[in-house]
Amino acid sequence: MNPLEFQLFGPFEVGTADGERLDLGPRKQRAVLALLALEPGRIVSMDRLIDELWADTAPASVIGTLQAYISHLRRVLEPGRAPRTPPTILLTREPGYLLAVEPEQIDLVRFTAGTEQGRQALSRKAYGEALDALDRALAIWRGEPLAEFSAYGFAQPVIARMTELHASATEDRFEARLALGHTGSSIADLERLVEAHPYRERLWGLLALALYRAGRQADALAALRRARARLADDLGLEPGPELRRVEQAVFDQSVTLEAPPPPKVVTAGLIAREPQLRRIADRLAEAGRGQGGVLLVAGEAGIGKTRLAQAAADAAGMRVVWGRCVEADAAPAFWPWLQALRALGERAADTVRRLSSGSGDPAADPDVALFDLHERVLGTLAAEPVMVVLDDLHSADAASLRLLRYAARELHRRPMLVLATLRPEPGREPEQLADTLAALAREPGTERLRLPPFSPRDVAAYLGGADPALAEALYRRTGGNPFYLGELLRLLTASASTRSRKRSAT
Ligand SMILES: Nc1ncnc2c1ncn2[C@@H]1O[C@H](COP(=O)(O)OP(=O)(O)OP(=O)(O)O)[C@@H](O)[C@H]1O
Ligand SMILES: [Mg+2]
Repeated sequence: MNPLEFQLFGPFEVGTADGERLDLGPRKQRAVLALLALEPGRIVSMDRLIDELWADTAPASVIGTLQAYISHLRRVLEPGRAPRTPPTILLTREPGYLLAVEPEQIDLVRFTAGTEQGRQALSRKAYGEALDALDRALAIWRGEPLAEFSAYGFAQPVIARMTELHASATEDRFEARLALGHTGSSIADLERLVEAHPYRERLWGLLALALYRAGRQADALAALRRARARLADDLGLEPGPELRRVEQAVFDQSVTLEAPPPPKVVTAGLIAREPQLRRIADRLAEAGRGQGGVLLVAGEAGIGKTRLAQAAADAAGMRVVWGRCVEADAAPAFWPWLQALRALGERAADTVRRLSSGSGDPAADPDVALFDLHERVLGTLAAEPVMVVLDDLHSADAASLRLLRYAARELHRRPMLVLATLRPEPGREPEQLADTLAALAREPGTERLRLPPFSPRDVAAYLGGADPALAEALYRRTGGNPFYLGELLRLLTASASTRSRKRSAT
């Protein structure tokens, strides 16, 4: 495909892939190309070209002039074409000429398609997708199309059609914005627009709606009165049925004026963690066969480490005990291990007692005593297949970390998998933790699982398959962090229900 880009909005220009603008020559020659560009891939007859550009004033030599324009344009469009090789862009096709470019190379075609896509999304109530499509389409508009050719008959209907499309796309865009809760920021824009286009009733309706949703009922009614006055004074007209409906609804404080609720969050499903869950299941199966180890689940705050551990625990098919680490100074030594052991009940009581006094055999050498203690903990926990979750390992006390190092060396021959979650903060980790992680990394049975943020697709799945453009917007705001995502949605839901409470209270 030739990479040329035809811009019919604003001054007519044809740009190359490297941003160069082609010199299209005198006005009539440019008009020939513009006419062909309005119908990419379709034959425009010579008769029609002559009719449109010369009307009744065509001289006898008109065909020769037109042919000269075409050959100049061919040189400009394909400067590298060797002599006597057929042109590939501006083709001769009986009974006229054809511009062989893809429709997407014409800005006007992209604009039309984008506004249509936005309109359709709006009618499906996919507001985020609508807003996205309309924003992109409206950004293509660089000014009235074919402005320099407005003296020619062919330009007028295009200008009229595109201007109307621009206006209705702008209205669609505000409808989408309001549905998405962008109320306050829309009011000023709509005020400006009703001044510029006072007879577009839909704009007045949207302005009234925005004011109403902002809790400004009196201003909403005042705007509708202004609309009535403009229509009556200037045109002697009553507002149409749609604007009258909005007026009535504002009087009635009708629920039909409420913004639609934001999409429901599907909290039940675990999103985007299949590979990690599968890997944990494999390691649990190995542990069940007597070959355990340590799985470190690392990732930033809110990325879903605890949630993954819960999901893995639910599916474990063996006993699961939890130990949650709390800020080191606040907790007694061995705190997470103690919790895990306590969950085993009576059978661990003796070990719990020894561990909370922090000692093995008081008569023995301290190293030997510690070895005994560690051995006793592992023996108690791994008497039968078990998954031990140590949540927030970055907060573990030094004694607990030492015990974990011991476990990492031992577990390859015991039916116990330790799943430890942690926020890695390289360089900021206390020495103890850094040493422990380095030692763990050297054990073959230790493995680290990283949790990436949600992709835009994951966000869409999290939203229950909702509107991809909304998902994209939420993704951009949260970077795909599930915690931030949940908080943002809660905020959106809360502000939507406050709005509707305010409404029903007034
Ligand atoms: N894969 C997921 N699918 C759906 N929701 C998730 C997922 N991961 C996390 N969440 C949700 O995101 C929020 C934060 O998750 P979680 O508490 O597990 O993060 P964390 O990594 O443990 O954070 P912290 O480091 O603060 O402990 C929770 O509400 C959780 O339910
Ligand atoms: Mg957590």
